[in-house]
Amino acid sequence: MTTQTSTKKRILTGITTTGIPHLGNYVGSIRPAIASAKQAFADDSGDAFFFLADFHALIKCFDPDEIHRSTRAIAATWLACGLDPEQVIFYRQSDIAQIPELSWILSCSCAKGLMNRAHAYKASVDMNLAKGDTDPDFGISMGLFSYPVLMSADILMFNATHVPVGKDQIQHIEMARDIAGTFNHKYKELFTLPVAVTDENTPLLTGLDGRKMSKSYGNTIPLFGDGSPNIDPQKALKKAIAQIVTNSQAPEEPKNPDECNIFEIYKAFGSPDEINELAERYRRGIGWGEAKDILFHKINDEIAPMREKYLHLMNNPKELEEILQMGAVKARRYADKQLDKTRRATGIRPLAKLK
Ligand code: TRP
Repeated sequence: MTTQTSTKKRILTGITTTGIPHLGNYVGSIRPAIASAKQAFADDSGDAFFFLADFHALIKCFDPDEIHRSTRAIAATWLACGLDPEQVIFYRQSDIAQIPELSWILSCSCAKGLMNRAHAYKASVDMNLAKGDTDPDFGISMGLFSYPVLMSADILMFNATHVPVGKDQIQHIEMARDIAGTFNHKYKELFTLPVAVTDENTPLLTGLDGRKMSKSYGNTIPLFGDGSPNIDPQKALKKAIAQIVTNSQAPEEPKNPDECNIFEIYKAFGSPDEINELAERYRRGIGWGEAKDILFHKINDEIAPMREKYLHLMNNPKELEEILQMGAVKARRYADKQLDKTRRATGIRPLAKLK
């Protein structure tokens, strides 16, 4: 009997360990990624690798406490949101020493010119150029410059086929394909060419002020609080929803749901029937206080059951660490094999067998 492993999907994605997950991260990446991993497991169409990209975090964050706090909060969040570490290989990038080693080997199959064209690098250069008299590379680290090579190592190490990412990351997946192709051509067909998966059906969540929800705009709604174990997450959710910006229409006035931030966020949580029902209420006239209350209950019903697990894990870092180590053991099994093949393909291998 032959096994058809080659037709199976391997989903892989990394989460940079800066910041504390907010509701936009939940709707845009955590919820759909966990759902697709569960689906692949349920219908046996593939497997999934999710990891904490802490080496990537070092590129933009120089606060050791923040890196550490964020790693803990992100791990606790994904597990609380239903990621099953028995079904998904869940690990921390820095626990897999083979990844930076592969990154070096791949950097030797990566044209420097390819990295010159990376959007993130170009944006930094453009900012320097705009200042006029500074060096175009002022303040740009080698980490930022070669970021896409490390990301390629993350992906190619496990021969991932599908990489769910935000649109800003598509170029990096293209670069991983390019690097894999160069290596495969130069040495041996060892690496699968990955494809980026961006979900058109997952709209970006609107923030408190109507712009895209983003930490950099300061308009986020917390998912489980601010990452400290002492905060009451339900109160924090209610408080944030109270701050959603609305217009000054009176309660009884008929309203257009499509022009309202509250409704926009509700669409990410309600069923189609519930969404229609709320739209109807808008047209008949609804007070903003009431609309916010409806939104609060809808979101809270979905995330309240996860909160307990989140708080438990946040207060038991040992448990979290054990889960990550279990994932690292599994990930290293794949990484060891792939790195060994890669080294051998390039001529790095023992001179003779020693007994
Ligand atoms: N660069 C990605 C981001 O900022 C995170 C990441 C690192 C990643 N390595 C990866 C995503 C590998 C997918 C695959 O979102």
